[in-house]
Order: sequence, then C-alpha cells, then structure tokens
Amino acid sequence: MKRILSPSILAADFKVLGEQIRTCQENGAEYLHFDVMDGMFVPSISFGLPVLESLKGATNLTLDVHLMIVEPIRYVEEFARAGADILTVHYEACKDLQATLDAIHACGVKAGIVINPATDVEVLRPYLHQAEMFLLMSVEPGFGGQAFIPHSFDKIRTLREMLNVQGVETDIEVDGGICHANVKAVLDAGANVIVSGSTIFHGDIAKNVTGYLELFREA
Ligand code: DX5
Ligand code: ZN
Repeated sequence: MKRILSPSILAADFKVLGEQIRTCQENGAEYLHFDVMDGMFVPSISFGLPVLESLKGATNLTLDVHLMIVEPIRYVEEFARAGADILTVHYEACKDLQATLDAIHACGVKAGIVINPATDVEVLRPYLHQAEMFLLMSVEPGFGGQAFIPHSFDKIRTLREMLNVQGVETDIEVDGGICHANVKAVLDAGANVIVSGSTIFHGDIAKNVTGYLELFREA
C-alpha cells in the first residue's frame, strides 16, 4: 500500500506556519494533519475553522482533519466548506456514528473513524466498509510529544487483518508518539499513513521529513 506522511501542525511554529508547511510539501509529505480540540472531548483547545480556511488554497497537501470534539456532526459542513479533504471523527464522541459518516460523505469529503488507545478495534467491525480511513490513536488524544503506547501494535495488526478478511485496502493512520526509531515497526504492523508532530517540526523539518520517507522506502 502507498505510504503517506501526515505532519501534524500542532507542533509547528505558528509565526512561520506557511513556510513550515511549504518545507513539508517540498520534501515529499502528502498530507497535512490538522488537530482540532474543543476543551471538552480532550482537555486542551487548539485551533479551528479560520486557520483551516486560510490553509485552503495555500497548500496542495491533502488536509487531513482530526476532530477531537464532542458531537462532530454539528460542524461537518463547516469543516468541509473550510477545506477539509478528510474528516476524521472519534467513535467515542459520536452519538450516531453512521449519521456522522453519512453527513461527511454528503459533503463530498472522505470520512475517517478514530479510536482512543483504550477502545477495542472490534467496535470498528460494523463500519469496515463505511470509511476511507481508520485512525488509531497511539497516545491519549489532546497533546503532542507523548510516548507511543506499545499495545497499539496489536491493534494495528488486528485491524489490518479485519480489513484483509473483508478484502478492502483501507488506509490505517496512526497518530501519537511516532519517531524515526519506531516508524518501521508501525508500518510493518500494517499502518500506511503516519502522523508525526514533534519529530517533524522540532528541529530540521526538511531533514526530518526526508528521514521518514527514506524509512518508508526501506520498511
Ligand atoms: C494528539 C494529536 C496528534 C499530535 C501528535 O492528540 O492528535 O496528532 O499532534 O504529536 P506527536 O507526533 O508529537 O506525538
Ligand atoms: Zn491528530
């Protein structure tokens, strides 16, 4: 499967956001991970619609929007209008997940479903044909820079196997605590979309991105 790097701008320097995004794009990243936090579903508050709106058209990267908000169905249309290419919603945050996925698709946007570290991948079984991407959190959502939870490897393997049995090649994205030292194991387990915040934006961005892409070719 095609391997894709999705730099998470949560770790970017917002004084020079445009420049940092350009560096990601010029060095081969294909997605841009955009973490929306509401202070309810997760304890912190990040950024939202106006920031996304200003990125729309300013970059060719696929805008990969991770909604860490309660009842995301309320905002699906607005995020679609603001430029989201993929809208990923938490299983734990939706009263009616199917209706939320339908609302995303009705806007012509790809839908992703994300589960927290403590949520069993079995909950995804009824939705295996309903989403274009599954996102497994490998840290508790809410903050960048946390350590990867090793149990995530089993979850990635189990989900990839569930998808294989169904004969579908859906993207599995993994988010949290990924670094150059563990990314090969994450890919080997069956993930193909890699989110990274601090290990891209803290330091030499060009070098960090190309380092990931070299590892993608080797894994
Ligand atoms: C955490 C966010 C992540 C975060 C990852 O709630 O969903 O996308 O930016 O950051 P790192 O790569 O630093 O763990
Ligand atoms: Zn995220």
